[in-house]
Amino acid sequence: MSLEKNLNKILIIDFGSQFTQLIARRIRELGVYSEIISHKKIKKNDINHSVKGLILSGGPLNVYQLNKYSFDKRILINGLPVLGICFGHQIISKINGGKVKQSKHREFGLANIYKKKESLLIKDFFKKKKIVKVWMSHSDQVSKLPKNFKVIASSQNSKFTIVENKLKKLYGVQFHPEVTHTENGKKLISNFIFEICRIKKNWSSKDQKMKLIKDVRNQVMNNKVICALSGGVDSSVVAQLLNKAIGKNLHCIFVNTGLLRKNEEKQVVSTFKKKLKMNLIYVNAEKEFLTSLRNVVDPEKKRKIIGNLFIKIFERYAKKINNVKFLAQGTLYPDLIESKSVTGSQTSKIKSHHNVGGLPKKMKLKLVEPLKFLFKDEVRKLGLELKLNKDIISRHPFPGPGLAIRMPGIITKEKIDILKEADHYFIQALKEHNLYHKIWQAYAALLPVKTVGVMGDNRTYEYLCLLRAITSEDGMTADFFEFKKTFIQEISNKIVNSIRGINRVVYDITSKPPSTIELE
Ligand code: XMP
Repeated sequence: MSLEKNLNKILIIDFGSQFTQLIARRIRELGVYSEIISHKKIKKNDINHSVKGLILSGGPLNVYQLNKYSFDKRILINGLPVLGICFGHQIISKINGGKVKQSKHREFGLANIYKKKESLLIKDFFKKKKIVKVWMSHSDQVSKLPKNFKVIASSQNSKFTIVENKLKKLYGVQFHPEVTHTENGKKLISNFIFEICRIKKNWSSKDQKMKLIKDVRNQVMNNKVICALSGGVDSSVVAQLLNKAIGKNLHCIFVNTGLLRKNEEKQVVSTFKKKLKMNLIYVNAEKEFLTSLRNVVDPEKKRKIIGNLFIKIFERYAKKINNVKFLAQGTLYPDLIESKSVTGSQTSKIKSHHNVGGLPKKMKLKLVEPLKFLFKDEVRKLGLELKLNKDIISRHPFPGPGLAIRMPGIITKEKIDILKEADHYFIQALKEHNLYHKIWQAYAALLPVKTVGVMGDNRTYEYLCLLRAITSEDGMTADFFEFKKTFIQEISNKIVNSIRGINRVVYDITSKPPSTIELE
C-alpha cells in the first residue's frame, strides 16, 4: 500500500485485530484522515512529517512470539505520540522494559475500570464518575510497568488498564475503545488524536469520495471494468463510483431474474441507464430462471440453481465485451472481516463469508472492491455524496435469490405476480406511515397453503400471505417489529381486498434465532 505522502494522518499499525478497521472508522468519524498498514510492511521511511501519531492495534498474537510480531521499531520515533490498544499496549510495555504474561484471570466482554489519576487521554472519558464500562478481549496482560510509566486506570483483574509515559507521549489501554460497547470510547480516541497528537480535522465524506475515485483510477488505468449491478445499495454505490472514476470504461450487467420486487427492473434501468447515462446491459432472463426452477421445492436447490444460472448468464454477457481486465464488486468490510486479514497481518480465521468471491474465478479478472474498507452506513453516506437517489440508498436489504426464497414450495409465474403485489402494498404502507426507516427489513411472503374464507357471501379458497418486519443491527440477530393493531388491520384489509389469490394474512413474530430473517 502506498501512503498519501502529504496529508496529515494518524497511522494505524495493524497486528491482525478483528477491530482494526473500527479504529480507522472512529478516526474518520472524528474528521481526521488515517491509514492502516500491516506491522509486516511498515518501514521507517513511512514516518514522514505528515504522520502525527501512531496507533498500535490489538491482535491474536502473544508478545512472547517475538518473530511473529516483529516490526521495524525505528518507527517509534522520539516524541511521536503512540497509543497501544490491547496487544499494542502490551508491545509498548515490552519494548520499554516492562513485562507481559498470561493473566490468571482472562477478561472477555464488559469490565469496570477505575480511575486512578488524571491524564489528557481520559479528559471527559470518565465524565463525573470514577468507573467506566469497557470492552475487554485478552488472555495476556502487562505484569510489570516500564520505568517512568504511570497507571491512569485499573480494572479488578488488570492493574495496568490505562497507562502513560507523558514525557515520551506513549499511551496504552488494555481494552478496546474503538468498539461501541466501550462507554465513551470515541472520546478517548478523540483525546489521543486532538489533545495529544494535535492533528487538525482534515477529512469529510467528500474527501473520502475523491480518494476512492483516485484509487480506482490508479488501479484500473485505461482498462475496461465490468460490474454486476443488482439495484441493491452496495452494487449501486460501486457502479456510481466507477462511473464517476472511469465513465465509459465501466460496463454494468443487470440480470432480471423475474424474482425481483415490483417494478425493480424498471427503476434500475431508469436510474442507471437513463438518468446516470451508464453503459448498462439489461438482461431479461425471467423465462430462463422460471424454467430452471420448475417444480423445485428444496430451498438449498433453489439457491444453487439461481446462483449458478446467474453466473452463467453473467459470463455469457461479459464475454461480449472485449478486453475486460477487471470485475467490480460491492464487497464491504464486514463481508471480509471474518474471512481474512485485509492488510496482510495475521488474523484468526472465523468463517468464510458466503458473499466473498461469489463471482466466477475462472474468468481471470482482477477484482476492484472500492468499498472493502467501509461499513454499510458509510456506504450509504458515500452514495448520497455520489448523488444517488435516497430511495436506492436507504432500501431494505434484498437477498440475491429474491422472491424465490419468500415462496416456500414450487415457484410459478402466478405466485410471483401475487407476491409482488402483496409486497408492494406492504412496503408502500410502511412508507406512508413513516415506519419504513424504523424497520431494518420487511417483506411479504406467500405460503404454499390455501385456506377457506368468505367474501361477499361467497366462499374463497386462496393463498396465505405472511408479513415479516424485523429490527436488527446487522442481520445476525433480529426481533419482530411491534406494529399497532390499526396498522396491521389496515394492511391486512388492503392485501386481501386488492389481490385476487390471497384471502388471509398472518404476521411472523419469531425472532432470529431461532428463526432466520428469510423463510428459506
Ligand atoms: P437470514 O435469512 O440468513 O438473512 O437470517 C440474513 C440477511 O441476509 C439476507 N440474505 C441474503 N443476501 N444473498 C444475499 O445477498 C443471499 O443468498 C441471502 N440470503 C439471505 C437476508 O435478506 C437478510 O437481510
